[in-house]
Amino acid sequence: MKISKAMELVEPQLTKERYEHSLRVAKTARYLAKLYDGPEEKAELAGVLHDYAKYRSLEKMAEEIKTFNLPADLLDFHSELWHAPIGAILVEEECGLKDEDIQYAIRYHTTGRANMSKLEKIIFLADYIEPGRNFPGIEEVREVAETNLEYACWLAVRNTINYLISKRAKVYPDTFHAYNDLSKHINGGNE
Ligand SMILES: [Fe+2]
Ligand SMILES: [Fe+2]
Repeated sequence: MKISKAMELVEPQLTKERYEHSLRVAKTARYLAKLYDGPEEKAELAGVLHDYAKYRSLEKMAEEIKTFNLPADLLDFHSELWHAPIGAILVEEECGLKDEDIQYAIRYHTTGRANMSKLEKIIFLADYIEPGRNFPGIEEVREVAETNLEYACWLAVRNTINYLISKRAKVYPDTFHAYNDLSKHINGGNE
């Protein structure tokens, strides 16, 4: 699928702000792919598409978690997590994009998981550091993203877990799995 086609399909699904965020994620993802010898075109496409399901109604998404046979435990966690796995399926069902690498990158862009592919890491990180984002600790992640993809992802996951805990919110297990898995890549895995 061409980027222009993906943009055309995504734009009506999102608010103007979210659409612009998606374009910044695409640009950042392409930059990271080039930097880390990843698939640049897939990174850009996944960036454009990653929030495709962001504004689906909660009712519809709760239903789709069941009809698409997604993990039922998603329903016990914040609905903010739902758009990622649902979007991964809808880009195929509604947009005709069948590309496992891109679909996995969309699926895990919010929670992360253990054993993320390079493309999954790139989209996870691009969504976190795109230039429109602004929250405590982001400058450190942006800086590390220039030299160490795994460590930057680890920082982003750690910050996310810390944030959720400070809000007394639950943490989806895949996010802990991402944290533990990425810990292998820092300080010789002894952390
Ligand atoms: Fe998202
Ligand atoms: Fe996003």
